[in-house]
Amino acid sequence: MLDFPAASSVDECFALFSAPGPVSSPLPKYTSRRLCVAPMMEWTDRHCRYFLRLISPHARLYTEMVTTGALLHGDRDRFLKFDPAEHPVALQLGGSDPVALAQCARYGYEQGYDEINLNCGCPSDRVQDGRFGACLMAEPQLVAECVAAMRAAVPIPVTVKTRLGIDDLDHDEHLHRFIGSVAAAGCEVFILHARKAWLSGLSPKENREVPPLQYERVYAVKPAFPSLTIVINGGVTSAAAARDHLSFVDGVMIGREAYHNPYMLAEMERALFDGESPSREAVVEDFARYMERELDAGVPMRAMTRHILGLFNGLPGARRWRRELSELAAADTRRSGVLLSATAHLAATASDFRRRHAADAASTVS
Ligand SMILES: Cc1cc2nc3c(=O)[nH]c(=O)nc-3n(C[C@H](O)[C@H](O)[C@H](O)COP(=O)(O)O)c2cc1C
Repeated sequence: MLDFPAASSVDECFALFSAPGPVSSPLPKYTSRRLCVAPMMEWTDRHCRYFLRLISPHARLYTEMVTTGALLHGDRDRFLKFDPAEHPVALQLGGSDPVALAQCARYGYEQGYDEINLNCGCPSDRVQDGRFGACLMAEPQLVAECVAAMRAAVPIPVTVKTRLGIDDLDHDEHLHRFIGSVAAAGCEVFILHARKAWLSGLSPKENREVPPLQYERVYAVKPAFPSLTIVINGGVTSAAAARDHLSFVDGVMIGREAYHNPYMLAEMERALFDGESPSREAVVEDFARYMERELDAGVPMRAMTRHILGLFNGLPGARRWRRELSELAAADTRRSGVLLSATAHLAATASDFRRRHAADAASTVS
């Protein structure tokens, strides 16, 4: 059974959710979207986000997409749970029913999320069957209704992540019409994955690789809508590239590279915020403490270690790090202190590899 008041229209939805309530609490303090980490199903769960936050104090983190059906009928606490250290953190919703989205946005707000993001970019068959994700690009009016309903339900920003187009609806005229309609409904932030999506014939993975990146089309949105916050996404793998994009748009969202090579976020921190990140070894120690806590709460070790496999990528010792981490996960030890010392050992081993490599390189040069 649903435990929220039934509303059958957007107007009713406004009436229900605009009522005074906890919604009038102070607005969140986190506003920057200069650096964002993308929503990624099965990847950016709360353990991953906690880990990435240790490396990047400034990045805005996005949850995996959670469908309205899952939140309304499933284990809501499990889907919404996050650690306070994750702020600023945005909840990404998948759906296309304004009333259900408004209710789910409200749940997200009450849980403490800083932003509600609507997925209008996922091209999988499953989401198309549910009439949401990228296929919503063909229905700007419906997206506007969804945004208006969510805006009425929460005082935090409601944002949209989308593609440049779908199938033959792939020209700037349509994109700008889409953005204009949705912005008029109250969305002030658009995250644009800089490629179109093919709704049939390509898998979601191929849809992240095959359609070419068209950064110029994202840049062109900013002068057309100067008051909107425009975040560019797709294929950004270095701080230099991020800096270039920031000459044209307000923010950069990183997906796969942040997952496979998470310490690249330290480079981003330096380049975009003049900020400092802890060393890899310090990150490991902090994450080990977090893992101890979560293990005690019954989370399997592998659910956490799988997100940190890439920490030493590109460095000597990376393969050994991955292997030892996998062995540690397989052992799934739960004895307090064991994990901490094992991960400290791993970090020290990796760091020792690096020192020796640096010394070898220096002696080769001299
Ligand atoms: C494993 C995986 C899962 C993804 N899941 C989502 C998702 O839940 N919601 C979403 O909007 N995009 C999702 N994406 C797309 C990313 O958010 C991002 O738009 C895409 O990977 C392009 O950025 P990148 O080139 O920096 O990786 C996913 C991507 C990957 C690799």
